[in-house]
Amino acid sequence: MRGTAAQDSYGIAGSTNVTGDQVKKLDVLSNDMVINMLKSSFTTCMIVSEENKDVLIVEEDKQGKYIVCMDPLDGSSNIDCLVSIGTIFAIYRKVSPGAPSEKDALQPGRNLVAAGYALYGSATMLVLALECGVNCFMLDPAIGEFILVNRDVKIKKKGNIYSLNEGYAAYFDPAVTEYLKQKKFPQDGSSPYGSRYIGSMVADVHRTLVYGGIFLYPANSKSPKGKLRLLYECNPMAFIMEKAGGMATTGKEAILDIVPESIHQRVPIVLGSPDDVQEYINLFKKHSAK
Ligand code: F6P
Repeated sequence: MRGTAAQDSYGIAGSTNVTGDQVKKLDVLSNDMVINMLKSSFTTCMIVSEENKDVLIVEEDKQGKYIVCMDPLDGSSNIDCLVSIGTIFAIYRKVSPGAPSEKDALQPGRNLVAAGYALYGSATMLVLALECGVNCFMLDPAIGEFILVNRDVKIKKKGNIYSLNEGYAAYFDPAVTEYLKQKKFPQDGSSPYGSRYIGSMVADVHRTLVYGGIFLYPANSKSPKGKLRLLYECNPMAFIMEKAGGMATTGKEAILDIVPESIHQRVPIVLGSPDDVQEYINLFKKHSAK
């Protein structure tokens, strides 16, 4: 997918000046490719995409029993500077009888059958979470196959990296401010945490899965619901984290317990190593009680 997209973005346009228009084009191209693959797989009855305002109902004669929610190219503002981006997906089974409709996609993440992402980084990796756990597959371009490289991946109980856009510090809730202060100036004799933020959710979450630690995109006074989307960003990442032994929360409740109200709904999210996320939840509780 990346090969063709990059070719269009850089090659066919015949220009070295990669503009915002071309970024948009790559998003749209990825969306079209994934939708076409899903439709022709005969497995899917409905698709929710970050790129489409409404749900897409698959033609009746091609319908299968699954609902796919996806962000075909997440982190696309990073394309121009060649930073890693990715594709995120979450798969539900259709549970209601009759023709598929939007309400079939409004299921809590607990109902997910599978979720995952493809990370287009220094290599291309597919991370796939199923009921039984999380497995990682690396693309071997020589044979065009994804090879299982990490089986039943588990996240560290506690990490030493925090990851969020600290540029929004002026708008942070007091719980976030206090949490970060504890990470930078620990009072218990431990070392301060390192800070890493790419601004591509797939890359930031993948680093958190592999190295441990915590990723936060909390609510703030400018974005009271946070930025990231429940159906195709937060739920799939939360499912992966929980299957890997980690946690994912809004601060108040587990991401996977949220009953979605609309397909493009945003929610605050904090995910990662269980001890780190629990520490954040405790602070969040303390501040909510004030
Ligand atoms: O939702 C798109 C996205 O690019 C995510 O991949 C990323 O985590 C986030 O937005 C970055 O947002 P911000 O630029 O506000 O830090």
